Amino acid sequence: MAIIIKTSEEVALMREAGRIVAETLALLTSKVKPGVTTAELDTLAYDHCIRQGAIPSFKGYNGYPASLCASINDEVVHGIPSPNRKLHEGDIISLDFGVIYQGLQGDAAVTVGVGKITPTAAKLIRVTEEALCKGIEQARPRKRLGDISSAIQTYVESLGFSVVRQYVGHGIGRSMHEDPQIPNFGSPNRGPVLQPGMVLALEPMVNVGTFRTRVKEDKWTVVTEDGSLSAHFEHTVAITSDGPEILTKV
Ligand code: MF3
Ligand code: CO
Repeated sequence: MAIIIKTSEEVALMREAGRIVAETLALLTSKVKPGVTTAELDTLAYDHCIRQGAIPSFKGYNGYPASLCASINDEVVHGIPSPNRKLHEGDIISLDFGVIYQGLQGDAAVTVGVGKITPTAAKLIRVTEEALCKGIEQARPRKRLGDISSAIQTYVESLGFSVVRQYVGHGIGRSMHEDPQIPNFGSPNRGPVLQPGMVLALEPMVNVGTFRTRVKEDKWTVVTEDGSLSAHFEHTVAITSDGPEILTKV
């Protein structure tokens, strides 16, 4: 139930983990095009991470069968890579990846378009990434957790989209998921006071239509209830006395 404060040595290792995650996502982003399968992206992610001396953190987590989560169009999160799943022009795909480096974790996600995408899809991606930035701006000492949640929700809803309620961001460190849970909706000036040494994975999931989701028959893939498009961005962020430090940035 307590938020674990990291030492500067731990944060330094998380910076390395974060760099490996960010480089992997940049590599995958450069490979996204029509005809590529999500299984190919998963293999690239696995290989790149191992070459860097890190371990993919999702593989085997609660039985998850791959290194990467690849979630297309109405899929919100936890899409399982498959050789039968080819990207098509106009799709949007969320790539979510995490590693363990010398015992410490990094976790991040991006959403990218495949070739030419609709104006709505492009707006959804832009708003979701900007919502993450709004949340990160609040990640500084003396702010409270609710300030992050509220900044994300207010921004997303002001642009006509909805924030997913069922899945949340999280503390991160020696485990992928630590306290606190970080909803992408809520009230300012509520919840734990933020302190230097806290490390948070902020991850807004934003839908064009309803915020409601369901899980598919594969027990993993989360989709929007109404079939509308969804986007997801995530960074691992350390709170320092100077403000937020994004650890999963190239
Ligand atoms: N990146 C996801 C998160 O932030 C974790 C993926 S779930 C897994 O919680 F099972 F794939 F690991
Ligand atoms: Co996460």
